[in-house]
Amino acid sequence: LSLKNAFKDNFYIGTALNAWQITGRQPEELKVATQNFNSIVAENIMKSAQIQPKEGKFNFELADKFVKLGEENDMHIHGHTLIWHSQAPDWFFTGKDGNTVSEEVLIQRIRDHIHTVVGRYKGRVHSWDVVNEAIEDDGSYRDSKFYQILGEDFIKLAFEFAHEADPEAKLYYNDYSMAVPEKRRGVVRMVERLKNDNVQIDGIGMQGHIGLKHPDIMEFEKSLEAYGNLVKVMITELDLSVLPSPWGDAGAEISDNYEYDDKMNPFPDELPAYVEKQFTKRYVEFFELFLKHHDKIERVTLWGVNDGNSWKNNWPVRGRIDYPLLFDRKNQAKPVVNELIT
Ligand code: XIL
Repeated sequence: LSLKNAFKDNFYIGTALNAWQITGRQPEELKVATQNFNSIVAENIMKSAQIQPKEGKFNFELADKFVKLGEENDMHIHGHTLIWHSQAPDWFFTGKDGNTVSEEVLIQRIRDHIHTVVGRYKGRVHSWDVVNEAIEDDGSYRDSKFYQILGEDFIKLAFEFAHEADPEAKLYYNDYSMAVPEKRRGVVRMVERLKNDNVQIDGIGMQGHIGLKHPDIMEFEKSLEAYGNLVKVMITELDLSVLPSPWGDAGAEISDNYEYDDKMNPFPDELPAYVEKQFTKRYVEFFELFLKHHDKIERVTLWGVNDGNSWKNNWPVRGRIDYPLLFDRKNQAKPVVNELIT
């Protein structure tokens, strides 16, 4: 029994791949990915700074390999991400004179970017995070360059351009802190507006960068229901940190033998079994929630294959050793996998 078989009647179970796996430098990780998951997303290589580093100079080498890999393994292929304020190239917002571009120029660049990227993979990349992280935790729009220049219209335009480039592709809005009530209201408002304007939006991605305590699972469920009443829900970027976060999560409850040092890095060598238990319990609770709402959820995607690759080792605190994923640094399934599949 594998993860993908265990959940096949409920939702896709996906993982994020990075360049090392796509280019074959991590064959073991790739094997874990293809054996256990039936959907893939690119962790970084399809972001705008990587795929269009200079205006009109697209870099499709890795993305082509990624898509081919998904096809060879009969996977659901998801594209991340078209319009995002982060990991976007500076040229996008700057004119030849060095000043901020006009509305018209930015719209043209958004159109070209989306038409070229989505168009290239038409019929092959099944769904896209069209817009990523446009709303703040208080429900207001993020004051990004896109927003400063175009106001909230950039969101609608991005969805329209994506739909033009591939009418069959599923189009999503993706964001973090999606269980925060004020943010929930902001996202619901935005999606309702898009729908009222007859803009095609098929789903909302709830980034699942969770901790052992935050978010509150009941608030997460409220969001899942609120979003699921409007469109399909994807659980995206799922990983579970066992470490405290500077702004909230207290991290694992630890024994006297361990302490949180100034880098808050108590488990540099291995995760003690009693912390693994806290980790397993929390993952199981979330997956039980996902199964309960399987009619609303189309995909659950982990943000990486194994702990060794996870961005959580460097974020939000550089150099910490974290254990957020379902497979360990030796590519062994953790105890939680057995709990999830039986
Ligand atoms: C992260 C990647 O995991 C890192 O490797 C990279 O350095 C920064 O971006 N929200 C998103 C993801 O939508 O694209 C981010 O991925 C994590 C937060």
